[in-house]
Amino acid sequence: MTLAICLHIEPKTGVWIETLAAGGGRIVATGSPGTTRDATARALNLIPGVTVLGRRADNRAAHLRHCRDLLGHAPDLIADNGGDLHAVLAEDASMAQSLARVRGATEETTSGGARLREELRAFSFPTWVINDTEVKRVVENRFGVGLSVFDGLLRATNIMPNGKLALVIGYGFCGSGIARYLGAAGGRVMIADPSPMRRLEAHMEGFETGPIEKLLPRADLCITATGRDGVVNAQAFNAMKDGCILANAGHFETELDLPWLVRNTTVSRVTAQISAHRFADGRTVFLLAGGALVNLSAGSGNPIEVMDVGLALQSLSLERLACGRSKALPGVLAVPHEIEHLVAEMALERWASAPDIGT
Ligand SMILES: NC(=O)c1ccc[n+]([C@@H]2O[C@H](COP(=O)([O-])OP(=O)(O)OC[C@H]3O[C@@H](n4cnc5c(N)ncnc54)[C@H](O)[C@@H]3O)[C@@H](O)[C@H]2O)c1
Repeated sequence: MTLAICLHIEPKTGVWIETLAAGGGRIVATGSPGTTRDATARALNLIPGVTVLGRRADNRAAHLRHCRDLLGHAPDLIADNGGDLHAVLAEDASMAQSLARVRGATEETTSGGARLREELRAFSFPTWVINDTEVKRVVENRFGVGLSVFDGLLRATNIMPNGKLALVIGYGFCGSGIARYLGAAGGRVMIADPSPMRRLEAHMEGFETGPIEKLLPRADLCITATGRDGVVNAQAFNAMKDGCILANAGHFETELDLPWLVRNTTVSRVTAQISAHRFADGRTVFLLAGGALVNLSAGSGNPIEVMDVGLALQSLSLERLACGRSKALPGVLAVPHEIEHLVAEMALERWASAPDIGT
């Protein structure tokens, strides 16, 4: 079968693509602008049956062109990220033939799942949202993203979080993980989230909570993880204190109103991962990784154990959809519970088994 994959292209997803190819699949894949590891893409293109399009330096228009090219291969299965492949299928009339062939799809992210439900037309095939599983949200989003965002932040800046005031915007699975690791490293963490339930949870964990505009003027660091557009807008940029370090961990850099920031500041590059934005009033804000996912751009992405869980969910879901054993109705749906439970059991068996001392 032909699989069209739109997922961050880096060594760990590279091994997954290699595995699918070894299972007989013809793979056409592309990554996301700003996160593709070009060396991984080159290595994958050497594998028979694998075609990877796109480079790290691609812009959004180039990325959408690659998505269109992928779908031109008439895939049987789709593994999407952020809903980009689905959007091309929905919006491009020339894709009718490709559309008719798709047996089923997976969507990796929270943002993509929401986009499919809220914005795109209904499809005639099932799309299972990997991120809607509890196992992925806990293992990957909370602990994996929490750790890798912390790592990306440190690698990009070389700062000590101890005693620094860090504002985490969005206290969902990702944000709560980021807050947990920053707090464990001695950071003083503040949380902004419109949900009173999330703010209550953050309060119970010992974090200060409040509205963005009240917390932001004090923050040394600010990290977004909301999955929503324009969360850090003109008003928020104007409230930031001089020297604030700003990073995004959500799927799209549109969480930050970067066009406004670029229009209203003088930009200079500090390092490959840091740009300095100087406002007319003399304040400077340091933006990490150009607003792209800081854990993937400035760090090595999620830890390898975490990727095992997400990619096991992907593999077993695609296998079920490919083999036609799925009784799933068309539409955007959850991964079947038995797949989720199997992955949780396998992870526990592997990670929690007592080491065999003395043998
Ligand atoms: N960096 C990575 O590797 C990685 C991995 C997984 C998911 N993600 C992305 O991270 C984002 C968050 O994912 P999640 O699983 O934590 O989602 P989630 O739904 O659990 O949490 C999002 C939180 O943001 C809050 N929020 C919404 N609008 C807000 C606003 N204007 N201001 C402040 N808070 C707001 C919501 O109330 C919610 O609590 C998504 O974009 C997801 O795709 C990134």
